[in-house]
Amino acid sequence: MSGQIPLAGVIGAPVAHSLSPCLHGAWLARYGIAGHYVPFHVEPSDFAEVLRALPKLGVAGANVTIPHKVAALGLADQASDAARAIGAANMLTFCCDGSVEADNSDHYGFMANLRAGAPDWRATGTQVLVLGAGGASRAVLYALREAGVAEIYLGNRTLETAEGLADIFGDPVRVVPWEEVPDLLSAADLVVNTTSLGMTGQPPLTFSLDGLRAGQVVTDLVYAPLETELLQVARSAGATAVDGLGMLLHQAVPAFERWFGRRPDVDEDLRQTVLG
Ligand code: ATR
Repeated sequence: MSGQIPLAGVIGAPVAHSLSPCLHGAWLARYGIAGHYVPFHVEPSDFAEVLRALPKLGVAGANVTIPHKVAALGLADQASDAARAIGAANMLTFCCDGSVEADNSDHYGFMANLRAGAPDWRATGTQVLVLGAGGASRAVLYALREAGVAEIYLGNRTLETAEGLADIFGDPVRVVPWEEVPDLLSAADLVVNTTSLGMTGQPPLTFSLDGLRAGQVVTDLVYAPLETELLQVARSAGATAVDGLGMLLHQAVPAFERWFGRRPDVDEDLRQTVLG
């Protein structure tokens, strides 16, 4: 690849809404790197063929978004432990021999955002309440377990899905019925919403948030709106509220570093650029 202008992108369907081109483009401009990061709209039926072609075009790597994250893991030649545990890849690196390496940086993005927004938060001796058991929840559970959290309460509307994740992530994860979530709100040191509830166009969180209190950290993976009702209530109760935009920014750091050769900074300027 030496001597070539580095090229990377994001593959999705739809992909036009993706903030990744704006984000990587801002870093390329900031560091004066002569690279390109472009959106690739690829339908599921074409995805496998595209993955074999991109390395031949000299593309260094690609982020993968809806609906390809699970397929990306299955099609890759190698996968990181994180991608395997999470069961999905959001980052593919194309090697010189044409092979494809799958990784998942969502867990890193979650933890880096949490540590930036709540620097006093500690993994040891804390109780965490995670709401939701979809794809995003898997990345959060992986991050929390790797950080050393010993007690993770997992509540999900569909109990069996949560039980499936408890089987995968093991010991620290304790499944709680959805109806019991409100009672656990005040006991938890950290509350994480990974459901789509509260997102623009989706229903709000369906239970009382009265239990939220000072001394807690509350974070929402939803970032549209940036200040969700969960975060608003948490902030008014005196808790530390960490919004979800930072996770999106931080998850892009490992990819940019790998493909463009420089570890980029996440700061207020970048947030403002992406918020546009
Ligand atoms: P993502 O990849 O963003 O995590 P997902 O895999 O579709 O998206 O997961 C969505 C999560 O939001 C799930 O935990 C889902 O709960 P179910 O497993 O019961 O479907 C949760 N969710 C979505 N709509 C919900 C609602 N109206 N009430 C409660 N939970 C909801």
